[in-house]
Amino acid sequence: MQVITKIDELRQHLWQHRLNGSSIAFVPTMGNLHEGHLQLIDRAHEHADIVVSSIFVNPLQFGPGEDFNGYPRTFDADQAKLTERGCHILFAPTVDEMYPGTQVSQTIVKVPHLSSIHCGASRPGHFTGVATVVSKLFGIVQPDYAVFGLKDFQQFMVIKQLTEDLCLPVEIIGAPIARAASGLALSSRNGYLSEAELDTAATLYRCLADTRTAIDNGNNDFAELAETAQQRLEQAGFKRDYFVICRQHDLQPANLDDQDLAILAAAHMGKARLIDNLHFHRQ
Ligand code: PAF
Repeated sequence: MQVITKIDELRQHLWQHRLNGSSIAFVPTMGNLHEGHLQLIDRAHEHADIVVSSIFVNPLQFGPGEDFNGYPRTFDADQAKLTERGCHILFAPTVDEMYPGTQVSQTIVKVPHLSSIHCGASRPGHFTGVATVVSKLFGIVQPDYAVFGLKDFQQFMVIKQLTEDLCLPVEIIGAPIARAASGLALSSRNGYLSEAELDTAATLYRCLADTRTAIDNGNNDFAELAETAQQRLEQAGFKRDYFVICRQHDLQPANLDDQDLAILAAAHMGKARLIDNLHFHRQ
């Protein structure tokens, strides 16, 4: 695997691959890779000849007081995992390479509506940071395909929307959520949890699964179902963020006749803010 830190060098490299007629799939990450990320690499291999991944902890998507400085940086281990999974090129730029000059004067990409609800309401500016860095990375890599994990369902929707609105010639692929045996969605932030918290954290998935079962069994009182789940999470030791039953296409509250639903949840456990979701076609 080739490790490249400069935009110009990456461009030259990829130009050569394109000249040879190779297609390119891209997996952007912030590093601290776990099995979920590696499954995105596997998915990328299914679509294209050349797999490019990036590791960049993007300051623009962290708010004041969030974990930008403490975000786990495990570059050597990440590099070994990507090599083992057959990733061809790793792009690992510095903050200065991605944002020369001041971040204040950086052009931003803002996806309205979708960016201001749910995680966007709890983390103002987060999705603008994500949309901006993903747009820049797409401009640099110019992939045919880009693979994102569906654990960040709202992020996936934001990226689909920006790709469509900006007419970017890249196909966005969503990969299923990788889970531990307990049901807990794999996340870099699980590393913030103690052994006991890790056990309890699986309650988040169980609340989602039980809510889905209730809906499939005909319970349409979405507000009541969400409140019950929130109370159960609090009893388990979580601090509330949000738990919502939405329609998939715009993540607005679901109506009785909506069939494609997403139950989205975020909650705090110890030092970690965990997110998870179930998206499904209603029975
Ligand atoms: O999901 C992530 O790891 C990040 O939000 C992403 C898409 C790599 C942008 O920084």
